[in-house]
Amino acid sequence: MIRVGLLGCGNVGRIIAKEHVGVKIAALHDRIPGRAEEVAGLCGAEVYRDFAGFVQADLDIIVEAASVAAVREHAEEILLHGKDLVILSVGALADRPFRDRITALAREKGRRIHIPSGAIIGLDNLKVGQIAPLKRLLLRTTKSPESLNLKVDRRMMIFSGRANDCIRQFPKNINVAVALGLAAGREADVEIWIDPAVDRNIHEIIAEGEFGEIFIRVENVPSPDNPATSYLAALSILTLLKNLNEPLVVGT
Ligand SMILES: NC(=O)c1ccc[n+]([C@@H]2O[C@H](COP(=O)([O-])OP(=O)(O)OC[C@H]3O[C@@H](n4cnc5c(N)ncnc54)[C@H](O)[C@@H]3O)[C@@H](O)[C@H]2O)c1
Repeated sequence: MIRVGLLGCGNVGRIIAKEHVGVKIAALHDRIPGRAEEVAGLCGAEVYRDFAGFVQADLDIIVEAASVAAVREHAEEILLHGKDLVILSVGALADRPFRDRITALAREKGRRIHIPSGAIIGLDNLKVGQIAPLKRLLLRTTKSPESLNLKVDRRMMIFSGRANDCIRQFPKNINVAVALGLAAGREADVEIWIDPAVDRNIHEIIAEGEFGEIFIRVENVPSPDNPATSYLAALSILTLLKNLNEPLVVGT
């Protein structure tokens, strides 16, 4: 059975520990050791207080569900230790030289870096843009004002521009835009809206190409313990892990 290490035992990590299928969660690491210990109670995995011990454990793949900083800090070491890597904090890959470095390292070591669909649906199909370039790729995200510590009485747009500019102004909201760009092979345009009438994170994806038009709308139910994170993001990792070694590959 595939042996998985969890880097980050917060909201997503906890769901993975509770609901994983077809893999063994074997090792846990969090910079707050109490969190890893709590998650160990759910899956029986070994807790490593030091990253050095964690990365040397007998693991096939490490799932990052921690932070952009954790990806920057640890991705290279994970690959150097011969482990595959799942990156949920995809925003880290907006840094082109860093992305090129870890991709080259993965190739050299014969390892793979997986980007799950995260908080959206349809990342796999948008890869058609790598063959037939998209004429338009727009991510329109709508959030509640409270989730951004803002107070407004009507729906309003607070950002419109390219994904790379969004990174500077809203670094916490960039994971989906970066993932879309990597899949489609072109930078996404981004709009961020706040709306006092919504209590869910809503992602709308609009793509146009020679094939026609795509419109995807995802209304994410926030996780009860952390309204900033969607249950869908955790499910996308659980699905990725379950299908890693399946001989029948659907939807890529
Ligand atoms: N791609 C997507 O669509 C998508 C969707 C949801 C969440 N995310 C990202 O996934 C990550 C996890 O989300 P979450 O809701 O579980 O967050 P969370 O804050 O609930 O949990 C993160 C955990 O990681 C730990 N951590 C942070 N930095 C660390 C480091 N350098 N070393 C070790 N542990 C570290 C924290 O202590 C915390 O326990 C976040 O970066 C979030 O932005 C991406």
